Amino acid sequence: MKEKKIIVFGSGNGSNFQAIVEYFRSKRLPVEVLFLFCENPKAKIIERAKMLDVKVIVEDFKKFKSRKDFDRKVEEILDKHSFDLLVLAGYMKILPEEIIKKYKYMIINIHPSLLPAFPGLRAIEKAYNYGVKYTGITIHYVDEGVDTGPIIEQIALRIRNGESLKELEERIHRIEHYFYPRIIEKLLFEED
Ligand code: GRF
Repeated sequence: MKEKKIIVFGSGNGSNFQAIVEYFRSKRLPVEVLFLFCENPKAKIIERAKMLDVKVIVEDFKKFKSRKDFDRKVEEILDKHSFDLLVLAGYMKILPEEIIKKYKYMIINIHPSLLPAFPGLRAIEKAYNYGVKYTGITIHYVDEGVDTGPIIEQIALRIRNGESLKELEERIHRIEHYFYPRIIEKLLFEED
């Protein structure tokens, strides 16, 4: 098995990031997480990266004069590395077109609904409040839109009678943590 290199982008809690790192380590798969990139210096994901001993690159979005400057910085960072997959895990910024084009089919994202239903923020809550009977998760390639790229995999779950939003959120996150690392593994190694 050839060694693979991935980069993770995240802005928030970082539970998916942790699940990914721990999965590859526990299975002793030849996957190196080159670094975690985060634009929010206060995010919990940074603490998780430190705890897991993964290199962190933090670029505080608020300190950039313009969106363009920030985007240029991100592109510069990516260009310095050779990698197989860029994994978005709760990353809250939209990637610029130049990056999307340059790394086509090399960037994936996880979204907590069955796309194209409920794209964007607070997807679990929106699905719950809408009263759908089924929701789930989607793992997809990233394109120029918000949660619109080609779908790689979806896992559906039925919302239980009387289930609270909190319970549903917990179930969704559990399936994210189970499936995201395994789908990344498949994408990285299926051609080998
Ligand atoms: C996940 O629900 C993911 O689907 C969405 O953002 C959330 C990130 O959670 N894109 P975490 O930061 O991995 O805990």
